[in-house]
Amino acid sequence: MKILVTGGAGFIGSNFVRLIYYERPNWVITIVDKLTYAGNLNNIADLDKNRVKFVKADICNANAINKFIKENDIVVHFAAESHNDNSLQNPYPFIKTNLLGTYNILEGIRKYNKRLHHVSTDEVFGDLSLNDPKKFTPDTPYNPSSPYSATKAGADMLVRAWIRSFGIQATISNCSNNYGPYQHVEKFIPRQITEIIEGRKPKLYGNGLNIRDWIHTDDHSSGVLAIIEKGIVGETYLIGTNNEKSNKEVIQMILKLMGKDLNDYEHVSDRPGHDLRYAIDSSKIKNDLGWKPKYIDFEQGLNDVINWYIENKNWWEYQKHQTELKYNKII
Ligand code: NAD
Ligand code: DAU
Repeated sequence: MKILVTGGAGFIGSNFVRLIYYERPNWVITIVDKLTYAGNLNNIADLDKNRVKFVKADICNANAINKFIKENDIVVHFAAESHNDNSLQNPYPFIKTNLLGTYNILEGIRKYNKRLHHVSTDEVFGDLSLNDPKKFTPDTPYNPSSPYSATKAGADMLVRAWIRSFGIQATISNCSNNYGPYQHVEKFIPRQITEIIEGRKPKLYGNGLNIRDWIHTDDHSSGVLAIIEKGIVGETYLIGTNNEKSNKEVIQMILKLMGKDLNDYEHVSDRPGHDLRYAIDSSKIKNDLGWKPKYIDFEQGLNDVINWYIENKNWWEYQKHQTELKYNKII
């Protein structure tokens, strides 16, 4: 199998590449990644360059990526602008990469008759109320709230249209909030861990009651692998591990695991349009494809991630400085 991974130098894409590298030693892996502020070659530095070919390219440039689509059997499409807060400051890169970039991938897939797996998010469904017994299912109507989630929803719709109108061989997955090593410090969990390491207080948006359904990125990657090997073309699969937690609960777990007082955090201004709750019903991928998550104990997973950030300050120190300048609107 020759596999092309877009966004393979990012948080989840690099985790997926590492999974394939170790679990499918006969597969030939090519990564295309633009190396935006979120892409980092250090995420894949431990992998043998003879087995993992890296190409710096922008998916918005069809000519730059078509050659690689043609040379591979399957494209697994992770590349995206992925942070909601950035999309509220400047939506344009989201429109370009998430919509135009996905269009280019789809046209390459159509032209060379290749298989596609498109990686998406549960945010396309909008949000649930805090005490709603319902979870998102593959049939939940799309209702995105932010520029980020609207562009991801648009990209999913393009994939569905190309499946129906042009008969391309594609699957889609929508996953919940990931945590794990190598996650950019702009995101909630690494931001709080690194704030504490740097001697500042974690920052809770609004009242902190918003709920996210946390999954370890290793489990997201194994779900994507199950879909590309056993999934039915044309289908959408939801990936999640039944792990709903309020942001306040997560901050207090981090504080406890790092030996701090449970009230040692600060409330900051809420995110405009802040989605209340996400929750995934993953019964389809479990029942139809036999996928099972590995990380059942969130506190243990969180503790491992805290230790990774403590031990890998070199990896995050520079991006931390830049990120906090951005959050403080200094740049
Ligand atoms: P990330 O921001 O860490 O990584 C994105 C990667 O894409 C980076 O390496 C970046 O350089 C690359 N990229 C961005 N624009 C590009 C372009 N125009 N051309 C080529 N490469 C480009 O994101 P992530 O958190 O790893 O998310 C990966 C995918 O998974 C995204 O599609 C995201 O929507 C989806 N997703 C993320 C989560 C989550 O919790 N992080 C959950 C569900 C789904
Ligand atoms: O649900 C999947 C989505 O999860 C992915 O599609 C996105 O790519 C990914 O970024 C993530 O989106 P969220 O907006 O949920 O993640 P974020 O880490 O930005 O925030 C998680 C929650 O924590 C959210 O309710 C906002 C809150 N928050 C965030 C930050 C950065 C805080 O309370 N304080 C913070 O400093």
